[in-house]
Amino acid sequence: MSPRPIIAPSILAADFARLGEEVRAVQAAGADWLHIDVMDGHFVPNITLGPDIVRALKPHATVPMDVHLMIAPADPFLEAFVEAGADIVSVHPESGPHLNRTLKRIRLLGARAGVVFNPSTSPAVIEWMMDEVDLILVMSINPGFGGQSFMHSQLAKIETLRRMIEASGRDIVLEVDGGVTAETARLCVDAGATALVAGTAVFRGGPQAYAANIAALRG
Ligand code: DX5
Ligand code: ZN
Repeated sequence: MSPRPIIAPSILAADFARLGEEVRAVQAAGADWLHIDVMDGHFVPNITLGPDIVRALKPHATVPMDVHLMIAPADPFLEAFVEAGADIVSVHPESGPHLNRTLKRIRLLGARAGVVFNPSTSPAVIEWMMDEVDLILVMSINPGFGGQSFMHSQLAKIETLRRMIEASGRDIVLEVDGGVTAETARLCVDAGATALVAGTAVFRGGPQAYAANIAALRG
């Protein structure tokens, strides 16, 4: 039997005009982490939020803030996000030339370091860096927008990365992001995922539905 997955609601699907309330509501409903999607309109075709929003939400956060950077370059902004309150900072390898240096820098700043895999990115990217990562995030959509359909092709990659994590002997979180629903959540957990990001599936129906939505993802 698989252990209970970490549920990380993506605030991308929250009501941006009431973000503090949304964060409190989703935490009260059982969120384990808060997933924060940072987009620059350059690395991905959408723009969302920056360190000032992370800082504004920090006093409302009672759970770890899981910051997913979809920006290039990412290096000049790492310090700002950690200072603003990010507990985990994840970067895409394609966002800079020196992934190893970037991961070391995130840890040096005091946060946990994550690597994000686009649907086309090979697990080989981190083959020589298993000691440097605290979290691996598999995108099951092309990053940029919520509400897309889960790409089943990524399940085999989750399985491969699970084997790599086991072989490393390290306690690395394996997270999945994109199109996660109650149905696809089961597939991810069965493939070896230990954390699930969900925007649409958590925030649909408004605050009164959040607890049931999160419970459904846990299965
Ligand atoms: C997209 C983001 C996701 C997104 C997921 O680039 O990384 O975190 O919010 O949204 P859903 O759960 O709606 O697919
Ligand atoms: Zn994300």
